[in-house]
Amino acid sequence: MDETADGTLSEPEEGDAASATLPLGNRELVLVSNREPYVHERDGDEIRVVRPAGGLTSALDPMMASTGGTWVAWGSGDGDEEMSDENGCVRVPPDSPAYDLKRVSLTDEQVTNYYYGYSNQVLWPLCHSDTAKMTPKQEFWRHYRETNEHFADAIREQVDPSEAVVWFQDYHFALAPRRIREDEPDAFCMQFWHIPWPSWDVLRSCPEYDELLDGLLANDLLGFHTDRYCENFLECVSAALDAEVNHEEKTIRYEGRTIRVESFPLGIDAAERRRLAGSAETDEAWESLREAYPLGAERLAVGVDRLDYTKGIEQRLAALELLWERHSEWRGRFTYVQKASVSRSRIDDYQRVRETVTDEVERINERFGTETWQPIVYIEDRLSVAKLAALYRESDVALVSSIRDGMNLVAKEYVASQVDEPGVLVLSELVGAHENLGDAALTVHPNDTESFADGIEEALTMDLSDRESRMDRLWSEVEENDIEAWKHDVVQRAGELLAERDGEGVKRGERA
Ligand code: G6P
Repeated sequence: MDETADGTLSEPEEGDAASATLPLGNRELVLVSNREPYVHERDGDEIRVVRPAGGLTSALDPMMASTGGTWVAWGSGDGDEEMSDENGCVRVPPDSPAYDLKRVSLTDEQVTNYYYGYSNQVLWPLCHSDTAKMTPKQEFWRHYRETNEHFADAIREQVDPSEAVVWFQDYHFALAPRRIREDEPDAFCMQFWHIPWPSWDVLRSCPEYDELLDGLLANDLLGFHTDRYCENFLECVSAALDAEVNHEEKTIRYEGRTIRVESFPLGIDAAERRRLAGSAETDEAWESLREAYPLGAERLAVGVDRLDYTKGIEQRLAALELLWERHSEWRGRFTYVQKASVSRSRIDDYQRVRETVTDEVERINERFGTETWQPIVYIEDRLSVAKLAALYRESDVALVSSIRDGMNLVAKEYVASQVDEPGVLVLSELVGAHENLGDAALTVHPNDTESFADGIEEALTMDLSDRESRMDRLWSEVEENDIEAWKHDVVQRAGELLAERDGEGVKRGERA
């Protein structure tokens, strides 16, 4: 993709919460995701604001805060309704309002079947190539379809799609773009798929594959984290639909329209993470963490994950156990901190992950622990961003061992937080982030327990100059491909496509 050197988005000015302009002609940006960036939850008589776990919302909120617009999402909090106006809208971020959050109400039945059902018991395992965990049920599919229509209606209530760029996020909305386009052929729709896209052999195990592909092809631009996922998608379309696929150009001609399929690796707000890691707030957060948990060992490693079967937490614990078994010199001197967030807990497979992980932590701690040393510190409590920054900064090693992961932003957050003597990123070769960080990280295969354990040992004993040179390279990559760059690239591309199509937006290579 063409890239102008200093970008086409102007930076927000101080005191102006949403001042960046977008190269989208006069169209308003409407972002649509299942999860909302701010949840209002009741706590006794009070209502507090909670930020959900997971990379998507925390990555996109700073972007919306700088550009303004509307974010449409499921209003999942029990205090949401009270805090929103009669259209379900509230201005956020709460401390510095910059954009509208429109909350879509879902019934319990919709939540059960669309969110816990089709999204997370069919599409999630399917896209992570774990078809044995798929639970295809007619009820799930019916509600997924209806809820996608419900979201499309909510978008239309808020804006005229022919005057907007509607940007869908993720696998919860494979059908909504089609609903928008049916009513409004001039809409500009794009979608970013934050999880992997599987090969055709895997996709075909889902009975609704053709409708899913057809829904996604109602977009003008479809984005994935990596070229591999784009290739998989193109392969699926050529096998399943009557469409013309151009692999070189990454375009699809389908029902008289051209759809672009391109990769845009998602990043983090690297500069902000770096600033936070070096702040006095983070120093204080570290003190309070040390008071709350046994973190006094000479060396620390950290893992931060939702309790999900794709994250490879069990594999990581097996490697750690082998390390303490074979290298008794690390007993008493090295502690692993697992920050875990309970996730999708109404689904059996997720309950099982939590049970297995907590049982394994207990067993390993009993096996090796002493009066004065706890091998694994397991934290399910919510941690503030400053505490998380402190944990990253103070950890000598980060362990990211997913067995399949679209990108994985934890790896990038760890890198951005290495403001003191640098640590080592141990990274599974099966995550999207490995494509760009793999050369400078210490690569492991999560299912090869012995070499994984050796990798942790190598990370713990790596000399300073090796750590520094690896971390320099990692930081350059994370800083260069940050959330601003991602936003810039996607929005710029949308602007170019709008210009090509309607004469709106910007021409290729031109500044907005
Ligand atoms: C992944 C998905 C996001 C999702 C997040 C948390 O990062 O790509 O779409 O929001 O997990 O999962 P949850 O089901 O709690 O929203």
